[in-house]
Amino acid sequence: MRFKGKDIISIRDLEKDDILYILDVARKIEKSPDQDLLKGKVMASLFFEPSTRTRLSFESAMSLLGGKVVGFAEPGVSSLKKGETLWDTIKMVDRYADVIVMRHPVEGAARIASEAANVPVINGGDGSNQHPTQTLLDLYTILKTKGTLENLSVGMLGDLKYGRTVHSLCIALSHFNTKFYFISPDALAMPRDYLKDLERKGLSYTEESDLIKVSKELDILYVTRIQKERFPDPMEYKKYAGFYRLDKRILSHIKKDMKIMHPLPRVDEIHPELDSTEHALYFDQAANGIPVRQALLSLVLGRIE
Ligand code: CP
Repeated sequence: MRFKGKDIISIRDLEKDDILYILDVARKIEKSPDQDLLKGKVMASLFFEPSTRTRLSFESAMSLLGGKVVGFAEPGVSSLKKGETLWDTIKMVDRYADVIVMRHPVEGAARIASEAANVPVINGGDGSNQHPTQTLLDLYTILKTKGTLENLSVGMLGDLKYGRTVHSLCIALSHFNTKFYFISPDALAMPRDYLKDLERKGLSYTEESDLIKVSKELDILYVTRIQKERFPDPMEYKKYAGFYRLDKRILSHIKKDMKIMHPLPRVDEIHPELDSTEHALYFDQAANGIPVRQALLSLVLGRIE
């Protein structure tokens, strides 16, 4: 794929070779960043939903390569508050920036924005749907720590129903002969269409609610938060809040080199006592957002071919 001018909306838009190419560009940028690579370019950072990592790492990524950032961190300070539509907002921002990074609570909002915009749009998360740049940094993190993306056993734990990070990651890892373990309460299971995709590709997966039953098999355990904000019924959320709480007791049930990942933020699903163990990868994972997002910005802005 030639990336210049392309939107990054869903991980489904990227072939295996595209993914590997982005990760390779990220590796090169991390090794020797060029502080002027994005000089003269402006990124609009439009966050209609809260974020710490995605927004700040995109903004840092742009600034560290010499680009400029405009935007807002919550929609209440934009003219949306006065009733302006997303379409009109994007039509305007399009004229002020060379690339738009956006997060929105509605599934499909980034796709709609990409139809309104002439500049590339990068999806920083749309509702429960997709979070493609998170997935790219997840893969980058796995590659750095395991030396390969191929043939790994990966457990995804927690809210697999509403979790956009696991939805995107499941699609991406299906290129790499992954053995999947989906660990959740029945009500928060991985949606059927993702499982059917794996079946079509001939990939093996196991669904389980008890982590201990499968934890010894895993090379990676990808933990997710039970997301209060996605539940239509708060009583339903209360049933599952705190369903999984990992602490040091898990250590006797995992491989010595098993790594724990989490897109963050966490609430109570990983006890801080695990942070200092060699298994905890989540803070390094978040840091990898910088080179990966630098690679994406450089590619879609045409500064790297
Ligand atoms: N992982 C992630 O998307 O974090 P933020 O919500 O803080 O951006």
